[in-house]
Amino acid sequence: MPDTANESTVLSREEAWRHTGARAEVSKELPRHLRMMLALEDFEAPARRYLPRPMYGYVSGGAETNASLRNNRAAFDDWSFVPHALVDVSNRSVKATLFGREYAAPFGFAPMGGSSMAAYQGDIVLARCAAQSNIPMIMSGASLSRLEDVRAAGSTAWFQAYLPGEAGPITELVERVAAAGFDTLVLTVDVPVGANRENNVRSGFNRPLRPTARLAWDSIIHPRWFFGMFLRTLMNHGMPHFENMGPRTPLITSTGERDRGHRDQLSWKHVELMRKLWKGKLVLKGVLNRHDARTAKHSGVDGIIVSNHGGRQLDGASSPLRVLPGIVDAAGSMTVMMDSGIRRGTDVLKALALGAKFVFVGRPFLFAAAIGGDVGVKHAIKLLKDEVDRDMALLGVNKLSEVTRELLMETNSSR
Ligand code: GLV
Repeated sequence: MPDTANESTVLSREEAWRHTGARAEVSKELPRHLRMMLALEDFEAPARRYLPRPMYGYVSGGAETNASLRNNRAAFDDWSFVPHALVDVSNRSVKATLFGREYAAPFGFAPMGGSSMAAYQGDIVLARCAAQSNIPMIMSGASLSRLEDVRAAGSTAWFQAYLPGEAGPITELVERVAAAGFDTLVLTVDVPVGANRENNVRSGFNRPLRPTARLAWDSIIHPRWFFGMFLRTLMNHGMPHFENMGPRTPLITSTGERDRGHRDQLSWKHVELMRKLWKGKLVLKGVLNRHDARTAKHSGVDGIIVSNHGGRQLDGASSPLRVLPGIVDAAGSMTVMMDSGIRRGTDVLKALALGAKFVFVGRPFLFAAAIGGDVGVKHAIKLLKDEVDRDMALLGVNKLSEVTRELLMETNSSR
């Protein structure tokens, strides 16, 4: 009889899981309300119940008809895997190197504006969990926390800027971001004007929020959010403000408007200016056209994130996954990353197989922070990381560099 109690042969739960590839299971170590969160999509329904309608609508929604939002998911179904069998995959690793740094997984957090009105200290929680898990977190320029505080909370945080086409504000922000210690600056390039987010109007969302009876009612009928997040924020930190974009504006005001400056004048000459001013890695987010990828490369940019802003800007803009191979060709040696629509380990691996070096995921991690704070976010990271690990084994690969186009076929074609 094998001696299972022998110390040298006993496997920890984690090791046993890795060797047997056991399916996901309910963890008794998690708080009860997180135990049935078995995949990233599972965080959305409880977050919807937790959040007032305007906040949930703002986070979950896209623009106009939500065509891009839907297509971002649908695009993954166009591809199917063709796995290799009988490969020893016991030495597999999900570690990924990006800009010379090794991360624990090939994914990070996409930037999300206003995270701290959905989750208590949302940006800080996300930055802290990302650093503790050794994955990157991109903090949004539209955040309600000071960029200095977010970077202090997590050393893997990058800063994402919304900038007008004006040298003064660009110079000021670049200097501030550098002084805060960030090493990677992301410029979002798909926002020359605000998108047509009808869903925000319908749900009563505004930035800044207006103190209306409707907002008060929506808040009061969500007492866990109202007491556990909103009043707690007011008592501990005062009224949140948009801290990193134009003049400081409170989250709720009956009069103020956010001054976004001349964003519609932002052009390649400002990218060149930023390249001169910024010594760290410079990344453009929101590239969908391969000609822009080429121009970015010639402008000295270090990387691009192929993105349609999670379907939140131009409705009908192509799904990033569909334009990814063409952009990777045009980008040459420049680093190409992707976001928009990734929810599963298989999605991560399809994006990598089509040439992305790294991917970013947004909404599910914010929903996880809203309903579960640090524990929720760490659990969500583990879920996605475990999926990537398991899927690599099922694909017959040991390293992410082995995840190539050869492992994919178009779903409706034959081989
Ligand atoms: C960013 O702030 C967004 O709302 O997409």
